[in-house]
Amino acid sequence: MKALVKEQAKPGLWLVDVPEPEIGPGDVLIKVLRTGICGTDLHIRSWDGWARRCVRTPLVLGHEFVGEVVEAGRDVVDIKAGDRVGGEGHLVCGKCRNCLAGRRHLCRATVGLGVGRDGAFAEYVALPASNVWVHRLPVDLDVAAIFDPFGNAVHTALSFPLVGEDVLITGAGPIGLMAAAVARHAGARNVVVTDVSDERLELARKVGADLALNVSDGEIADGQRELGLREGFDIGLEMSGRPEALRDMIANMTHGGRIAMLGLPAEEFPVDWARIVTSMITIKGIYGREMFETWYAMSVLLEGGLDLAPVITGRYGYRDFEEAFADAASGRGGKVILDWTR
Ligand SMILES: NC(=O)c1ccc[n+]([C@@H]2O[C@H](COP(=O)([O-])OP(=O)(O)OC[C@H]3O[C@@H](n4cnc5c(N)ncnc54)[C@H](O)[C@@H]3O)[C@@H](O)[C@H]2O)c1
Ligand SMILES: [Zn+2]
Ligand SMILES: [Zn+2]
Repeated sequence: MKALVKEQAKPGLWLVDVPEPEIGPGDVLIKVLRTGICGTDLHIRSWDGWARRCVRTPLVLGHEFVGEVVEAGRDVVDIKAGDRVGGEGHLVCGKCRNCLAGRRHLCRATVGLGVGRDGAFAEYVALPASNVWVHRLPVDLDVAAIFDPFGNAVHTALSFPLVGEDVLITGAGPIGLMAAAVARHAGARNVVVTDVSDERLELARKVGADLALNVSDGEIADGQRELGLREGFDIGLEMSGRPEALRDMIANMTHGGRIAMLGLPAEEFPVDWARIVTSMITIKGIYGREMFETWYAMSVLLEGGLDLAPVITGRYGYRDFEEAFADAASGRGGKVILDWTR
């Protein structure tokens, strides 16, 4: 089968023939239909410091996908050939304290699909049945392909109750955009999104942000004044991984404000701890999705009318992966989809 592989320990990706994955009694074999390109895939392609430390070659990339089941192992129940499925890309150990307690998203030995083991940028992918999500509600294929990052957005946005609250989202990348759509849909009062890209801020307006603010030529405090906020934001969703964004956020929160932090900073950095303490701000780290509570929430949010269409801005056949990756790396658009059927 064709697969996008990190064959060599240097920048680049290679579209090559590899053997089809084999399945065990508890696994499911999936024909991949569409995949989403994630920042993680860009890191592996460019072979930066993180990728050099964390990735062993050869590796089939990819963790954001939708596909169709072609074969289920003999111990698999409730999943059958023909089912349209996505997959939770965090493979957990099943043995640690959190796994045993059913808190699988907190597993201490998580392995990432397309990072620590072969992934979904291929014509077929195999997964343990316990990682497979069957789309029982109708869902657009492109949207189904990005359930993984959509889940990051939902997990983060719904970490704290936000009905009637003023929400600040730093970073209008694909995940920040989806978080803005979720916050709007879930009943926030004001949703403010910041970025340094005007193109992405335009997408933020399309998904329903009340204010989309370019922080390279404006201050969040000005945005607060524009909306008539007097005491700061109630909820912060950090979606950029940038030190200055978290610092700005902390400076603009209300007393008792709550921050859910998904953005992954590249390095350690200082923040104003005295302000965090005296303003009694809560900061919660978010990694991945809750299995499978977040997946349930995603399905029913879409069923209830949440619209992610503006977030998807690039569509390519898998043979055009170079163009697709360049599009995703430009930092200007939304999510980029690879179609594995053309
Ligand atoms: N914790 C997790 O499980 C998890 C999973 C996926 C992604 N992530 C991280 O979440 C973040 C968002 O992911 P993404 O795919 O949307 O990333 P992305 O890189 O596409 O988006 C980040 C955005 O932040 C913007 N930005 C840069 N400086 C800024 C500033 N000072 N203020 C506001 N915005 C600024 C960038 O222009 C960009 O549009 C990334 O840091 C990513 O590494 C975390
Ligand atoms: Zn991803
Ligand atoms: Zn575990």
